[in-house]
Amino acid sequence: DVSGFNIGDEVILNPSLYWGPNEKVQGPDYQILGFPTQGTFAEYISIGSEYVYAKPKHLSLEEAAALPLAGLTAYRALFTRGGCVRDSKVLITGIGGGAALFVLHFAVASVAQVYVTSSSQEKIGKAIDLGANGGVIYCNTDWDQELRTLCDGFDVIVDSAAGKGFSKLLDLAQPGASIAMFGRTAGNMTDLSPSSIFWKQLSIHGTTMGTTEEFEAMLSLVSSKKIFPAIDSVYPAHDIGMAFEKMEKAEQFGKIVINMEEL
Ligand SMILES: NC(=O)c1ccc[n+]([C@@H]2O[C@H](COP(=O)([O-])OP(=O)(O)OC[C@H]3O[C@@H](n4cnc5c(N)ncnc54)[C@H](OP(=O)(O)O)[C@@H]3O)[C@@H](O)[C@H]2O)c1
Repeated sequence: DVSGFNIGDEVILNPSLYWGPNEKVQGPDYQILGFPTQGTFAEYISIGSEYVYAKPKHLSLEEAAALPLAGLTAYRALFTRGGCVRDSKVLITGIGGGAALFVLHFAVASVAQVYVTSSSQEKIGKAIDLGANGGVIYCNTDWDQELRTLCDGFDVIVDSAAGKGFSKLLDLAQPGASIAMFGRTAGNMTDLSPSSIFWKQLSIHGTTMGTTEEFEAMLSLVSSKKIFPAIDSVYPAHDIGMAFEKMEKAEQFGKIVINMEEL
């Protein structure tokens, strides 16, 4: 019953399934491809044709494999929830993360001013090569003060770490700023200052994945601006354990891709 595709076409999948009618939040039937049904470390997969799109022509299959989940999450976090526009001052925490790097690509493509945090000076250097204006190491006690010397405050903050560092984001936010958060890599948030939130009229937005319209807008942005996902490494399927070890040590800069052809 599938039309518009031929056997052998190179495609990309929208992993955000059954979102439902409300663009503000996914409905009760929502699923992420691979969770809770079907795994994505698979040679074959069954999926509705409405979730299948032509692969952006400028991307290799490995680059395309890196894009869907992290790219969609980044797109909604930065634009729909964060409200990034041209000239916004954007802060992205933990730039070595897969989704964080897509936020960087999309913010740079939108001509925003972008600053990052990382555990590694080398990763900050790579982010600057990709268009970031600067960055600081979040392991330093006074990383927030260091960031203030680079930028006097941020209009949009995209965070996937949470943890105790989140409270500093409230100080770094400009009055009226938006903070979009979609992860908890560093654990629960502590010591949040209520007065920073209400006096500065901050908007803190939880965000997860995205709608079909956002997926299509993300693909369109990637194609029109010729954005290439940052790939840290590609592992054959038989070395999948090494890929997880690398991710656990947070050594990666960008996406770790598994090649299922090399079982
Ligand atoms: N809600 C959703 O839709 C959604 C979608 C995708 C991911 N997520 C969640 O988002 C988080 C990130 O996932 P990911 O796959 O993009 O990342 P990832 O590739 O697993 O990378 C995690 C990154 O977090 C950074 N990090 C670690 N501790 C930090 C801290 N204390 N402060 C700031 N940054 C810190 C590190 O950055 P450096 O290497 O630069 O130090 C690390 O590279 C996870 O919690 C994941 O479950 C949620």
